[in-house]
Amino acid sequence: MAHRSAKWKQGSLMKVSSEVCPVCGGTGWKFAGEERRVSRCDCRLKQKGEALLAAARIPKRYEHCELSNFSFEGPHSHLTRARMDVCKFVEEYPLENTGLLLIGSIGVGKTHLAVGIIKELILSKGIACLFYDYRELLKQIQNSYNDSVKATELEVLRPVFETEVLVLDELGAVKPTEWVWDTVSLILNTRYNDNRTTIITTNYPDDPAKEASGTSEFSRAQRAVRGETLGDRIGERMRSRLHEMCRIIKMEGADFRQTIKSASFR
Ligand SMILES: Nc1ncnc2c1ncn2[C@@H]1O[C@H](COP(=O)(O)OP(=O)(O)OP(=O)(O)O)[C@@H](O)[C@H]1O
Ligand SMILES: [Mg+2]
Ligand SMILES: [Zn+2]
Repeated sequence: MAHRSAKWKQGSLMKVSSEVCPVCGGTGWKFAGEERRVSRCDCRLKQKGEALLAAARIPKRYEHCELSNFSFEGPHSHLTRARMDVCKFVEEYPLENTGLLLIGSIGVGKTHLAVGIIKELILSKGIACLFYDYRELLKQIQNSYNDSVKATELEVLRPVFETEVLVLDELGAVKPTEWVWDTVSLILNTRYNDNRTTIITTNYPDDPAKEASGTSEFSRAQRAVRGETLGDRIGERMRSRLHEMCRIIKMEGADFRQTIKSASFR
């Protein structure tokens, strides 16, 4: 019995010693520089980063996305400018906290960059960030009206309102209805009024709602031919609000998924 408890003691001591940070001795504070000023130990920043990353809701599919593995040279040189703008944003944040609107065609790397940004903000600056797919968010809000679902609308929306940086991926991807417009206005206006940063991606061109917004057969056909715009999908007022909240980053080029596929066949 005595033997067993001694063994247990040894085991637990070993466990503790492997967890205690050698720099700060577990206090979270370290002395640095000539004057031996006290500052936060890196182990705490690392712990905080890991917790923030786990809370950011980055989908599995995009977990690999980082600024450091975003190609922007050679065949991808059309993305150099976008990447540069994004890195500048990360560097200057939070002194400069205007959001970003990443606009571009399918598969050009918008979500990759958006995820890369928040990962960097989380890990190097300890900033709370949240990723939401626009469709998923609207679906969760709509679900909250269902009596059998526990979460209330406010419970879904609170983190979306309050997170310091929000990524809203694929803005406009839900067919617009009055409710969709009201909900997107509520989200964007709340974040705008609280001076919070929002990073948005969209496939829709940043053009006004088409004049042909009537419901006649002719105007509908016209809209289909010319393709829908961001104005059509979220309403002109919200598009104009976005221009106040965000800097626009245009990304054009081939679908990265196709490029990779065709390269592997060569
Ligand atoms: N420049 C790049 N360097 C490295 N990987 C990239 C690059 N661009 C895209 N990818 C990869 O290609 C895939 C598609 O990119 P992503 O999902 O970011 O495109 P998207 O513009 O958001 O597309 P969609 O319009 O369909 O949402 C991802 O796996 C992403 O990691
Ligand atoms: Mg995307
Ligand atoms: Zn430490």
